[in-house]
Formats: sequence, structure tokens, C-alpha cells
Amino acid sequence: AAGAPAPDRSGGPAVVAHRGASGHAPENTLAAVDAAAELGVEWVEVDVQRAGDGELVVLHDNDLARTTDAAERHPDRAPWGLDDFSYPEIAELDAGSWYGPEFAGERVPTLGEVLDRMDEHGQKLLLEVKSPELYPGIEADVVAELREHGWLAPRTLRTSLVVQSFDAASVRTLHELAPRVRTGLLGNPPVARLADHAEYVDQINPRHTTVTADYVAAIQELRGAHGRKLQVNVWTVNDGPTAFALAGLGVDGIITDHPDVVRAALSSG
Ligand code: G3P
Ligand code: CA
Repeated sequence: AAGAPAPDRSGGPAVVAHRGASGHAPENTLAAVDAAAELGVEWVEVDVQRAGDGELVVLHDNDLARTTDAAERHPDRAPWGLDDFSYPEIAELDAGSWYGPEFAGERVPTLGEVLDRMDEHGQKLLLEVKSPELYPGIEADVVAELREHGWLAPRTLRTSLVVQSFDAASVRTLHELAPRVRTGLLGNPPVARLADHAEYVDQINPRHTTVTADYVAAIQELRGAHGRKLQVNVWTVNDGPTAFALAGLGVDGIITDHPDVVRAALSSG
């Protein structure tokens, strides 16, 4: 990052804990949410999908094989697709041992559990609706769950919640169902399409390797769905020099498994 301008510490990028603080605890678990709180990270990103019985759960992959003991406990149910399991079955699984023995017994949480835990910690939520094409109608389910757990109060809406997806149609649906909720589109749409997306999003959140200063500026010169400057959050940035360089490009947020590393880099200028 030699030569990159120092970030403004008062107005530098927000640090966002990716899948919880997933460099410190098993991703998308309450332990990872707690780890983010212990690190003092303001924003937490998690992924939401829908189990076979309709329960919304926090999980990244479309199947349970990598981050739980589903394959061991249910060898006859390959490929362990999330929607082939009910939530009571999922709640029995161990979602922590794969990461480290000290996390044995950690579970795949429901979205409701994560919302309540984050509320207790006073954290801000960047919620990714993962693979919505697999779960028709999930947008309405997500909005209902957010409402039920108190996340659609006016203050939360303005400061503490963004719902994002790689699926532009899903983000548009979310915006139509709950127009006051801030939204983000994951990916790097061409500059010529940014104004179209700005009608229903507040953020464009690209993979960090795809951004340039010009691309960041092209996004930020537009106004988003709620009239404020369109923001840019980049992912997934796990080393200090890269985080420092991206801050120099003026990004609004840095999504990372290692919030401690990124924060140290941002304050090293
Ligand atoms: O929030 C951005 C990032 O989480 C998108 O990628 O695969 O980690 O969900 P992924
Ligand atoms: Ca994600």
C-alpha cells in the first residue's frame, strides 16, 4: 500500500465482520456473532437461507456438509442439502467442531436467534439473502422475521440494517416489500448499469479485486434508493496492506474475517 493516501480515521471505512468474526469462531454461528462483539466490531455480515420446514437459518453453503457433522450423523442423506432437513434436525447438528474442539456443540442458528443476539450486543446487521432462487418467496419471510424481532423500527432502518444479495431480482423484491429497508447488490455491475440499480439499492458491494478508484467514484456519485450517496462495501479483505489500499480508494466498508487485522491497518496511517 506504499503511496496510498491515509484513510480519514473519523470517516474511514466501516469494518464488517464476515459471517460473524469468522477468523475467530465458526462462521455464521452465535459464537462468531459474540466474537465480533468482543472485538468491538460495529457491523456483522451473515447469510440467510431456508430449511426444509420453512425455518430461516444462518448458513453460507446450500448444504450442511462443510460446516456441520451432517454427513457423519446422516451418511444416507447425501448431499445433505439444507432444504432436505427440517430445523429440528438441523438444531441437533454440531456446527462448531469442524472449526476447533473448543466450539463443539455450537449450532446452526435460526435468523431469529441471530437477530436477538445482535440486538443484545447493539450490533449492526448486513444480512445476505443467499441463493434466493432456491427459496421462492424467501424475501417476504425475511421481512416478516425482521419485523417480528424488532429490526424494522425507524432508528434501526436508518442506521443498523442493510439487506443484500447477489440476485438483483431478489433485492428489487425486498425493496418493493419493505421500501424503507436499506439494500445492497453484491457483485460488480458495469458502470453503465449503475444508475438502473440505484433505483432500488443503497449499496453496491463488489469483490475487492474488481474495484478501482474510478469504479468506486462512479458508484459514489449516484444517489441510492433513499436519496443518500450510494455506498461501496468490498469483500473479503483479510490482510492489512490490502485493507489500507482500499481505504485509500474511498470505499465505505471493508468486509473481513479478521476485523482486528483490518482495524489495525486502518489506524496505522
Ligand atoms: O458480504 C459479501 C460476501 O459475504 C459475499 O460472499 O460467498 O462470503 O457470501 P460470500
Ligand atoms: Ca455472505
